[in-house]
Amino acid sequence: MFRLAVFVSGGGTNLQALLDRIADGTLENISIDLVIASKPGTRAQQRAEQAGIEFFVMERSRYESTEAFDQALTDLLADRPVDLIVLAGFMCLLGPQLVQAYRNRIINIHPSLIPAFCGHGLYGIRPHQAALEYGVKLSGATVHFVDEQYDTGPILLQKSVIVRNDDTAELLQKRVMEEAEQIILPQAVRMIAAGQVRIEGRRTVILEENEND
Ligand code: GRF
Repeated sequence: MFRLAVFVSGGGTNLQALLDRIADGTLENISIDLVIASKPGTRAQQRAEQAGIEFFVMERSRYESTEAFDQALTDLLADRPVDLIVLAGFMCLLGPQLVQAYRNRIINIHPSLIPAFCGHGLYGIRPHQAALEYGVKLSGATVHFVDEQYDTGPILLQKSVIVRNDDTAELLQKRVMEEAEQIILPQAVRMIAAGQVRIEGRRTVILEENEND
């Protein structure tokens, strides 16, 4: 079984996409063993609880330092057999201890085509506002491996979405979530679980199905 820990902060639509793909058999031999939210009372918490998944709230504000928060997250996972951490809208930067403990085993979904419209402060609706303000004709989503900075790790998958003349940030966000994020995040999990992904420096190499034999 390939075991996931999913970190969330909000609506949980990406968590739901993973749950749905597990339920419909697209993600075989893959389980979500725990969900960690950065704050209480999220829709993501309801989704995890409806699915009977062990759930924790880990609020950064309850720890006196980023180091203590980093230690608490690392400790929580230490005695659990987690193969991959999936950041699905998690709003906190992970500390170096956790990133090191799970080097190349943490992925994030970002709602733009990195390196466009990413980095510190560009989260939620903001990447979509920035895309519209810039006037790009394509936006989309990116799944990348997580390192010690925001949105800078090796890119694994990207999927584009056409920007329409009458788009608002909210309309673009909805289309990017539905037509990009919720497709490439489960795909990325399946590829990693199948051992199809190799990281070579800044780049990822995706092996064909039979290349890994
Ligand atoms: C998504 O847009 C994701 O790209 C970003 O945060 C949002 C999370 O949405 N990182 P949800 O909580 O999965 O609905």
